[in-house]
Amino acid sequence: MLLRERPPSPVAEVREPRFERCGVRLLLKRDDLVHPELPGNKWRKLAPNLRAAVAGGHRELVTFGGAYSNHLRATAAAGRLLGLGTVGVVRGDELAGRPLNDSLARCAADGMRLHFVSRSDYRRKAEPAVLARLLEAAGAASAYAVPEGGSNALALEGCAALGRELRGVSEAVAVACGTGGTLAGLAAGLGPGQRAIGVPVLAGGFLGGEVRSLQQQAFGGPAGDWSLAEGFDHGGYARVPAALEAFAAGFEDRHGVPVERIYVAKLLWALAELAERGEFPRGSAVTAVVTGRP
Ligand SMILES: Cc1ncc(COP(=O)(O)O)c(C=O)c1O
Repeated sequence: MLLRERPPSPVAEVREPRFERCGVRLLLKRDDLVHPELPGNKWRKLAPNLRAAVAGGHRELVTFGGAYSNHLRATAAAGRLLGLGTVGVVRGDELAGRPLNDSLARCAADGMRLHFVSRSDYRRKAEPAVLARLLEAAGAASAYAVPEGGSNALALEGCAALGRELRGVSEAVAVACGTGGTLAGLAAGLGPGQRAIGVPVLAGGFLGGEVRSLQQQAFGGPAGDWSLAEGFDHGGYARVPAALEAFAAGFEDRHGVPVERIYVAKLLWALAELAERGEFPRGSAVTAVVTGRP
């Protein structure tokens, strides 16, 4: 069931005054509804990796994340659903002796074995020797490895399928970005005349290079028409200032759509501002991908 293709997630139009005043239609791609336990880009990215893990005869998955990582939680849930073991390599060995936060407690309840590593080792995990040492110490040397954030070539293929579902739906399609994997795949799947807009939720200006490099790995070169709308990080990752909170709560009240605060709220805020700046022609439509649930 987890490994099978799923029907396209629904697209719904919402009537938001700030868009209507600019003559722009706002559509929501309800990808949060694509799978009950692995919403949005979690299912898009993990499903192709889970198929590969099972096809390769692996009995265990290993992945990486911080103490509040949605991706760790999704991997733990996927392991439980498929009967595969999971190992989470967690940033910060100072956490090892402390009670687990809610997010890690959920991972553990789903059967994930947590292995805490120092921040410096975690930063260097792209170095093959460091990675091999970390996996050995975690007892996961033969596990199927999924990178931090789940963004590898297979994950991008899964996100390209999301883009294909949106062909012909609107001129612009926008998504919030962490690692940039969802944007990189989405852009590749859209049709001619469509463009993808990524809204980074982290400050730093590094994301364009990441998206190019992910597309190189997955597709052998640049794919699709995409750009980044910077300046909507609201002070940094997981920062939700009062104005953003009020905006997200208002959106939920008006439309009955749950708004995940760390990514989706920043995306919707950015689109309203971009519409007011004239980024979208009058009479055109923009689709916001709802990549997760609160
Ligand atoms: C709800 C949600 N939306 C968007 C993203 C960003 O995805 P990506 O890392 O592919 O840019 C994430 C990443 O974890 C997420 O949890």
